[in-house]
Amino acid sequence: MNARESTELLVPIEGESGIVNARSLARNIARELGFGMVDQSRIATAVSELTRNIVRYASGGRGEVVIREVAGPADQPGVEIVVSDEGPGIADIEFAMREGVSSSTGLGMGLPGTRRLMDEMKIESGAGRGTVITIRKWRRQSGK
Ligand SMILES: Nc1ncnc2c1ncn2[C@@H]1O[C@H](COP(=O)(O)OP(=O)(O)OP(=O)(O)O)[C@@H](O)[C@H]1O
Ligand SMILES: [Mg+2]
Repeated sequence: MNARESTELLVPIEGESGIVNARSLARNIARELGFGMVDQSRIATAVSELTRNIVRYASGGRGEVVIREVAGPADQPGVEIVVSDEGPGIADIEFAMREGVSSSTGLGMGLPGTRRLMDEMKIESGAGRGTVITIRKWRRQSGK
C-alpha cells in the first residue's frame, strides 16, 4: 500500500457559496497534484459549471462534490471529481450535451464546455432520478 495518504474531499453544495467553495478547493487540490496554472483554471471552471447547474436545476439547489486524487491510465497523477444531486435529473443526456441547449436562460454551454475542459466525463442521470457527473483530468508529463 502507498504510504502517502491520498487526498479526498467532500464539499456540500447549497446555493452560491457552495459553488465558490468547490471551485477554489478543486483548484487547490489540482495545484497540490502539480497541475499547471492553465489546467488548474480548466478544472476550477468545470467544477464551477457543474455546481452552478446544481444551484439552478436541482431541488433546493443542493448537492455535493467529491474531489479525489486518482491515477491515470499511464499511472500519471490525476484528479476525479464527482458532482451529484437528487434533483429532477436529465431526461435526454445526449441532447443536454449539445451546445446551445438550455431549459433556462443559460447559453447551454456548461456541459459541452466541461467536456472539453476535462479528459473524461460521464453523466449518469434520468428523469426523476437525480444526476451524478464524474469528470477526470490527468496531469501532463511537463506539469503544464
Ligand atoms: N444537475 C442537473 N439537473 C437537472 N438538469 C440539468 C442539470 N445539469 C444540467 N441540466 C440540464 O441540462 C441543460 C444543459 O446544461 P448546460 O450547463 O450545458 O446549460 P445551461 O446551464 O442551460 O446554460 P449555461 O451552463 O451555459 O449557463 C440545462 O439547461 C438543464 O436543462
Ligand atoms: Mg450550466
